[in-house]
Amino acid sequence: MKVLVVGTGGRDHAIAWKFGRSPRVSRVFVAHGNAGIARSAECVNLRTIEEMADFAEKERIDLTFVGPEKPLSAGIADLFESRGLPIVGPDKKASRLESSKCDAKEMMRELAIPVPEFENFSEPDKARDYIRSLGYPVVVKADGLAAGKGSLVCDSVAEAEAAVRQIMEERAFGEAGQRVVVEKRLYGRELSFFCFTDGYSIVPMVAAQDYKRALENDEGKNTGGMGSYSPHPFLNEALVKTIMSRVAEPLINGVREKYSIVYRGVLYLGLMLVEKGDEVIPYVLEINIRLGDPEAQVILPRLRTDLVDISEAILAGRLKSMQPEWDPDYRLCLIATSGRTKGKKGWYKGYPDRYKIGVPIEGLDKIDENCLVFHSGTELDPSGRLVTTGGRVLCIVSSGKTLAAAREKALLEMEKVGFEGIYYRKDIGLE
Ligand code: GLY
Repeated sequence: MKVLVVGTGGRDHAIAWKFGRSPRVSRVFVAHGNAGIARSAECVNLRTIEEMADFAEKERIDLTFVGPEKPLSAGIADLFESRGLPIVGPDKKASRLESSKCDAKEMMRELAIPVPEFENFSEPDKARDYIRSLGYPVVVKADGLAAGKGSLVCDSVAEAEAAVRQIMEERAFGEAGQRVVVEKRLYGRELSFFCFTDGYSIVPMVAAQDYKRALENDEGKNTGGMGSYSPHPFLNEALVKTIMSRVAEPLINGVREKYSIVYRGVLYLGLMLVEKGDEVIPYVLEINIRLGDPEAQVILPRLRTDLVDISEAILAGRLKSMQPEWDPDYRLCLIATSGRTKGKKGWYKGYPDRYKIGVPIEGLDKIDENCLVFHSGTELDPSGRLVTTGGRVLCIVSSGKTLAAAREKALLEMEKVGFEGIYYRKDIGLE
């Protein structure tokens, strides 16, 4: 069968890689991919969801799987379904759970799902008044899509006021900052939890630890993700049951019954586990409507079951019959980013601030073949050299019987990669 993967980043490379391993798949197309993805799949330069639907129809694509949130929020699932093209991913209505943090939090409050105390604001002065009235630290979040960078964790009232100014008045994240959620900052252990769902049945996947801050010791700005590992040390059967009964089931059933949203695809719950007496409460910090980046890079290599079989079960509404199998070994992902470099007019601070592109990348041919390399921001320059095109450039995914072994291996292999300004966190997986 022919599969089309929509996406251009490391997560999407991992999805294409996983489909490429299926004995049922003869061709994997990726719209629009990057230089790394092009080494093992056929990249097609399709930019709009209409172009993607035309291509799927013309090429008789049997299955389309969507990586990022933007095409889902733009209604790619609705468009494909209206043209009878099989696609895995939530529709536009369901996508509000990610594309509006304010609406998602309201819905969860209505459905009695644990969320931090919060209020939504469309006027900056009212948000500031609220912040001043609270006796605890907050997180200020842009309502709309902001490439993972729209949550500002604040240590003081002054920082929270500055976050409101940055998001709502300076529009650091554009239109995403029309509204904000101001929520109580929780302290505990973060965990990214994933499920497959056909809108009725929900099958838990495994969990991963994501590292969002740019610098070691979880300092610096929020990024789209600097590394990850799986399995997550906190996830056991009892916690899976708690997350399913307190969050995933009330959410999927609740949005269907109360808001007529039939959610089909991957559900990503960004959770903060907070201990209260003997209980662990999984508070939902965010909902994403897709696989995580860089969580997919460590989760999909652990999935033993064919992703085609799972996708077909989602589409046919028979997910209940699936029991995905997982490799218990650790996977650890280190992201190499475009760091501090000197430009013609001064210094580039490096990702997630401004960074240089077009920088040649060396050393990938020396990476141990037992590791995986997924690309995020790479292309071939006119002379055919592999160069950087993004803040997150590529990642190395290692495996190991222990987290420490996986970490050591990834660091060893990453030392072989070279490009001007390369920066990666060396504390990923350091527990
Ligand atoms: N790892 C965070 C995200 O995918 O949104």
